Amino acid sequence: MKAIVYSKYGGPEVLQINEIEKPSPKDDEVLIKIHAVSINDWDFGLLEGDFINRMLNGFLKPNRKILGSDIAGRIEAVGKNVTLFKPGDEVYGDLSGRWGGFAEYTCATEKSLALKPASMSFIEAAAIPQAAMLAVQGLIDTGKIHPGIKLLINGAGGGVGTFAVQIAKLFGVETTGVDSENKLDMMRSIGFENVIDYTEVDFTRNGLSYDLILDVKTNRSIFEYLRVLRPTGVYVTVGGSMTRLFQALILGRLISLISKKHIRIVALKPNKDLIYMNDLFETGKIKPVIDGPYKLSDFAKAFRIFGKGEHKGKVVITM
Ligand SMILES: NC(=O)c1ccc[n+]([C@@H]2O[C@H](COP(=O)([O-])OP(=O)(O)OC[C@H]3O[C@@H](n4cnc5c(N)ncnc54)[C@H](OP(=O)(O)O)[C@@H]3O)[C@@H](O)[C@H]2O)c1
Repeated sequence: MKAIVYSKYGGPEVLQINEIEKPSPKDDEVLIKIHAVSINDWDFGLLEGDFINRMLNGFLKPNRKILGSDIAGRIEAVGKNVTLFKPGDEVYGDLSGRWGGFAEYTCATEKSLALKPASMSFIEAAAIPQAAMLAVQGLIDTGKIHPGIKLLINGAGGGVGTFAVQIAKLFGVETTGVDSENKLDMMRSIGFENVIDYTEVDFTRNGLSYDLILDVKTNRSIFEYLRVLRPTGVYVTVGGSMTRLFQALILGRLISLISKKHIRIVALKPNKDLIYMNDLFETGKIKPVIDGPYKLSDFAKAFRIFGKGEHKGKVVITM
């Protein structure tokens, strides 16, 4: 089978398409013929090999050679202990931890998969897992979103932000999205009432304030976020700068003790809310924003666009 593999850390140029042996499922695994896969920030971290990701995948060179977590495809074979799925089922899910998604076939355990609704394309399904889970868990579980509040999403034009605004609209909140100029029209088209070009306006210094901030970039100091949080506001980060995240971790508790503001960090629970997403999709409440899809032969272009942050929504590659 074909797979996008890497044997050393670096940029998209270290990735190449190789012919490798097709995997076979263990007793508790299914074999999936992958139709589409999306690129996540985590894939990029593993590709470049920052310190944290080298701890996960090898210090000198990557141990797992095939990245890719968010996949959609059809089950081709099942191990003898598998009970939830059968050959022919169309499934999707986040395989982070084992990865292997940038390939024509991969194996996965049942718990990392959900059935794909017939009305959802493989391309749409591959866009959903990690970004939509972070949006749901950031806004609902951690942010306790509720009607009537003002929400700001920082880094709003990528994967998480484009799901988050659609989920936020279901709660009747006023949404503001921060990203670069070329994404603002798309952001308005999916429901943002207000958009801010971060190259032109500093949202922490324009006099406006918010009840809830969902942050995908965490590129500002906690004190700047506190300045634009209303007196009982909640700041939720899903990821970004490690230094800033550490600051949020250290200061978060202290801030809750001395004020009514809250600083919270989301720890992703992979695949937890896929059934909820199926429901939202089937009732027309959510539509993934797709950049692409790119053919397997164009994978380098897809990775370059993602790496430069030029993508809108989710970059999807068809296998
Ligand atoms: N908590 C967990 O357990 C967990 C697990 C997995 C992933 N994550 C995190 O989840 C996040 C993934 O988010 P995503 O998929 O939405 O990423 P994404 O698709 O790359 O979107 C990020 C957006 O932020 C924009 N941006 C860049 N610099 C910005 C700035 N200074 N101010 C405002 N916006 C800026 C980018 O556009 P431009 O470059 O054009 O500006 C891009 O549109 C990452 O932070 C990752 O680390 C967390």
